Amino acid sequence: MKIAPSILAADQSDLKTEVRRVEEAGADMIHIDIADGHFAPNITLGPDTVKALRRVTNLPLDVHLMIDEPGKFTGPFLEAGSDTITVHAEVMDEPTLATLSRVVHEKRKKIGLAVKPGTPLPPWLKNQAENLDLVLILSVNPGFAGQQFMPTVLPKIEAAIREFGGRSLEVEVDGGVDTKNAAEIVRAGATVLVAGASIFRRGDAKLALKEMRAVAEGKVREVSA
Ligand code: DX5
Ligand code: ZN
Repeated sequence: MKIAPSILAADQSDLKTEVRRVEEAGADMIHIDIADGHFAPNITLGPDTVKALRRVTNLPLDVHLMIDEPGKFTGPFLEAGSDTITVHAEVMDEPTLATLSRVVHEKRKKIGLAVKPGTPLPPWLKNQAENLDLVLILSVNPGFAGQQFMPTVLPKIEAAIREFGGRSLEVEVDGGVDTKNAAEIVRAGATVLVAGASIFRRGDAKLALKEMRAVAEGKVREVSA
């Protein structure tokens, strides 16, 4: 089980310090939310910021493209040093995904497919198993950190695992993850927990990560943040 702090909830005036803070605290990767003001009602960061962050951390950069034209920007975000590029099913079709998968895998990077809380898994997901490394189940509406987790998405985690049969695949759950819900999310099959507010806005990131890991691994029942 991996924890990916989302810098959407970090101090935007000091991302270098924020990224280093969670790296030292034991984060497994850095989740970077890209919103274009169309797909999601917010505008966040671009490839230049990803490139700058690539220089300040050794952790994998997990880039979540909440944008209308992921095909247009996959290249620039790969060039910037992203390790995983996740695109949304709502703006994707099977042939485009297959093409993007080739582009990403040629660079020896990973590709994920995300679904918004109200979007079912696409019927073609199974056919694309070979082309994907990750499925991201978004558990809040895209755009902002600090929203409340929607438990209605939990069955989609199990469904994604079923679709992929025995094939190993990361299942990332993103949005409103905290120490109150981490255990049930991991029990449902998630392998990566994205957490913004519950890590960056807790003050002591090391303690926040330690508690989340303990809860997720079933060592502690629940920690009230
Ligand atoms: C939602 C983003 C999430 C979110 C995570 O648009 O994709 O990554 O910011 O932050 P929290 O954990 O605060 O919901
Ligand atoms: Zn995200």
